[in-house]
Amino acid sequence: MSASEPAARLLRLLRQEAVVSGERLSGALGISRAAIWKHVEQLRARGYRIEAEHARGYRLAAIPDRLLPEEIATRLTGSRFGRRIVYFEATDSTNVQAMRLAREGAAEGTLVVAERQTQGRGRLGRSWVSPGFVNLYGSWILRPTLAPADAPQLSLVAALAVARALEPLAPGAVAIKWPNDCLLAGRKVAGILTEMDAELDRVRAVVVGIGVNLNAGARAFPAELRATATSVRLTTSRKVDRVAFAAALCDALEAVYDRFLHEGFGALIAEWNRYSCLSGREVTVDCAGQHTTGLVRGVDARGRLVLVGDGGREIPIVAGDVSIVGGYARLGGERTSGGGR
Ligand code: BTN
Repeated sequence: MSASEPAARLLRLLRQEAVVSGERLSGALGISRAAIWKHVEQLRARGYRIEAEHARGYRLAAIPDRLLPEEIATRLTGSRFGRRIVYFEATDSTNVQAMRLAREGAAEGTLVVAERQTQGRGRLGRSWVSPGFVNLYGSWILRPTLAPADAPQLSLVAALAVARALEPLAPGAVAIKWPNDCLLAGRKVAGILTEMDAELDRVRAVVVGIGVNLNAGARAFPAELRATATSVRLTTSRKVDRVAFAAALCDALEAVYDRFLHEGFGALIAEWNRYSCLSGREVTVDCAGQHTTGLVRGVDARGRLVLVGDGGREIPIVAGDVSIVGGYARLGGERTSGGGR
């Protein structure tokens, strides 16, 4: 529904006042009362509860628990991210759809959002469990002026944005596990899959796909993930307003991304390291079968994980799967694959 459509204008008027008469709506929109009724029915079919009060008019009683673009739009405070939203009740993968739109020339900040994914994709060829109408599956199109080799930093940028958006929902319980897993109380709550369309020396577009488990119940996760994955609702016992979260994430992503573009990743290191659950821990990194062990110092200005190895030697890690030496108990059961399989 575009902002200029009668249904969207009708909705705007209903939001502004408690009750609006049919006559006033018809005058404001320049259409007949019968046409107003038709649009009210159309909105009801989208899940809006609109009550007709005898002799008074229409009242917007409840908005649907859907990631509808017009709902997210009313809560945005940023200027670019989420200003265009492509919505699917179900799609294969929002990353696939976003990459298609990016190749067709979609603007930076465009968001593809879905209630459900049939082929949700995770990192390293894993899949991402994507049950319907409970979580957030979103992919943002970015067009950074960046060397392709620096693009992986965008995953860390996105992880910080997710942490910022989650913080008010679970204060003090949010952590990031390098490179870009987000944890709540030690279990994986969100994952990020960053994909790129690039030439050798130029990035055409980057798609940052983010899955956040918001209201999923335990049974939404397959048995093998139940001990390691979580949702905000499972952790806090409170239902999340998914629309408000989607808007908060758009705003956080825009703010963190803009700072990254202007000042570089170095400007984000301190906040990133504060969220990092690996700092000071002994870890092993598996990079394509090659294992490196060391004590984590933190991330550096290029987003690399810096380990301190034997004899104090610094080892910057560019990519890999991290596991904590001595198991996961100290992270409260966290595993690298939680939320995806
Ligand atoms: C991971 O393995 O941790 C990354 C998971 C990324 C999942 C998100 S959900 C939205 C977007 N669409 C996808 O198919 N994947 C990403």
